[in-house]
Amino acid sequence: MSQPASLPAIPTLVPPPEEFAAQANVSGIAAYNEMYQRAAADPANFWGDLAATELDWFKRFDKPLVWEPPFAKWFEGGKLNVSYNCVDRHVKTHQRNKAAIIFEGEPGDQRVITYHELQRLVCRFASSLLHLGLKTGDRAIIYMPMIPEAAIAMLGCARLGIPHSVVFGGFSAEALKARIQDLEAKVVITADGGWRRAKEVKLKEAVDEAVKSCPTIEHVVVYKRTGSTVHMQEGRDHWWHVLDETAIEDVAPVELDSEHPLYVLYTSGTTGKPKGILHTSGGYLLQATMTMKWVFDLKESDTYWCTADVGWVTGHSYVVYGPLSAGATTVMYEGAPDTPAFDRWWRLVDKYGVSIFYTSPTAIRALIRQGDQWPAKHKLSSIRLLGSVGEPINPAAWAWFHRVIGHNRCPIVDTWWQTETGAILIAPMPGAVGLKPGSGTFPMPGISPQIVDNNGNPVEDGKEGFLILRTPWPSMLRTIWGDPERYKEQYWSKVPGAYFTGDAARKDKDGYYWVLGRVDDVMNVSGHRLSTMEIESALVKHHAVAEAAVVGKPHEITGQAVCCFVTLKKGVADHEKLGGELRQWVAHEIGPFARPEEIRFTEALPKTRSGKIMRRLLREIVTSHTVAGDVTTLEDMNVLTSLSAAHDED
Ligand code: WTA
Repeated sequence: MSQPASLPAIPTLVPPPEEFAAQANVSGIAAYNEMYQRAAADPANFWGDLAATELDWFKRFDKPLVWEPPFAKWFEGGKLNVSYNCVDRHVKTHQRNKAAIIFEGEPGDQRVITYHELQRLVCRFASSLLHLGLKTGDRAIIYMPMIPEAAIAMLGCARLGIPHSVVFGGFSAEALKARIQDLEAKVVITADGGWRRAKEVKLKEAVDEAVKSCPTIEHVVVYKRTGSTVHMQEGRDHWWHVLDETAIEDVAPVELDSEHPLYVLYTSGTTGKPKGILHTSGGYLLQATMTMKWVFDLKESDTYWCTADVGWVTGHSYVVYGPLSAGATTVMYEGAPDTPAFDRWWRLVDKYGVSIFYTSPTAIRALIRQGDQWPAKHKLSSIRLLGSVGEPINPAAWAWFHRVIGHNRCPIVDTWWQTETGAILIAPMPGAVGLKPGSGTFPMPGISPQIVDNNGNPVEDGKEGFLILRTPWPSMLRTIWGDPERYKEQYWSKVPGAYFTGDAARKDKDGYYWVLGRVDDVMNVSGHRLSTMEIESALVKHHAVAEAAVVGKPHEITGQAVCCFVTLKKGVADHEKLGGELRQWVAHEIGPFARPEEIRFTEALPKTRSGKIMRRLLREIVTSHTVAGDVTTLEDMNVLTSLSAAHDED
């Protein structure tokens, strides 16, 4: 996005404001360096010492780390419970009646849930699960709107050691079905619907459709949110509030191994099948908790708001588990930022006195487009720290966020991490590190990233390469659910012995990291990961489609947009209608957020002699509208000429 001439220049280095540094949890670069070096000298014991003091254990662990590459066990022998750490331990302190969750629904309904109240709600829900016969080790799917019950369901499962998989409410019945089947879940926890842009997102309908072909599902628990009519199947479906009538309030947290699975979160990989990323208990919770304190500089008095949906990893680590474990007040908002008007978020910031505000570059760019008059209507004086996640933040969006939302007063923490890493790995400690717009700055203590070439050799500073990690960290994924071979192959084989992030990055002469984007067939649309293969598989399931190739196309607001090249089966003619139909088809197969921006019909796709589609060429076509790269392996040069000329038929 270009910078209009009248705006102030984008700063190149923004030191921590003095006032901020004076009160920061980690103050001054020397404090950061000391901690970083201490961790680097002995990472296992660095994390071990923190685990012992920052988490509550029923039984102390024997060893901080058992590392049999690429499989890690953190805090082996230790017994704990994540819901105890997120809820009960705070109820024992003066924080008992502090707000744990502040919620506002899209229609304007409000709830403030204290830690004590949260404990009662989590226990009651856990008691309902027990009543249904669920037990430790069974799996649950959570398919909910952004309401407190989503967090309560997660914590209720965690209390009993029932691994959960939250499926984003924007996913279709098809996508939901695939996840239920892969996890072999016994229960789906859902709602009748949720509110989004003043319309109801009908969740129960999608569940009904999905579970038709899911024989493992024994129960569906339905929270009444919108009050619309839903079908309830006798014996299988249960209203949350009806189960609650007989619920009890003292459900003891189960004493679980540190490595007990906490959740599986499906994310897009480089094949058509989503990967179930497995996170376990002690290590995950420790790193989510520490980064709340280090990166978000969390204080007892903060009101913290992360705008992510619980369906994504950011919602797990930084709406629910991290903030609650750290004893924060976490804000949840159900709906869209533009409902009823473009200042809904800023209205919420002032109303609840939000002091830490964490969002995505896509959201920032969408709000910039609506103009400064929306934030200008509100004071925003409670904010002291801003955060960004999901994709590289372009310096112009950074500068706007800093000036218009942060009033030039608040540091911005640009946080790099992934579903797989579980917690933030590269980000500034805002009272210690000077900021460079667009850079995640430095790694967290205990994290040693490297930037390497194709052969795994470190590249010089200033040069671009692959971002990798050579040593394990507590919140790392443990495996891909049910597929350890794929885990090894996808993450630990590209550079032998190292974790491959799939991102390109460079380090500048001052040691700042700049993450540049994906190097694999994963697109980043609105900060959401989408696999090109997943969309291609969806397209070729359509009766009219012969072949499909999908690439990410640069987009001013969403970062990338989905662009599909499609060849049709013989005899299929009506292109005009088909463009719209195929876009709708993808939304139906995966979810509305995956709906392609563009469908281009073509006679043929560029392929190598061995028949592989050359996506790189297609990427060049949508990015620069010409092809400059090497085309020596291309089978039919004519295809290229006609592709460059192909235009959007939709
Ligand atoms: C990208 C989201 C640059 C990156 C937490 C990564 C970023 C992918 C940043 C993970 C950032 C996330 N700067 N790129 N601050 N944050 N990414 O799994 O490509 O949904 O690999 O996790 O998003 O996306 P995921």
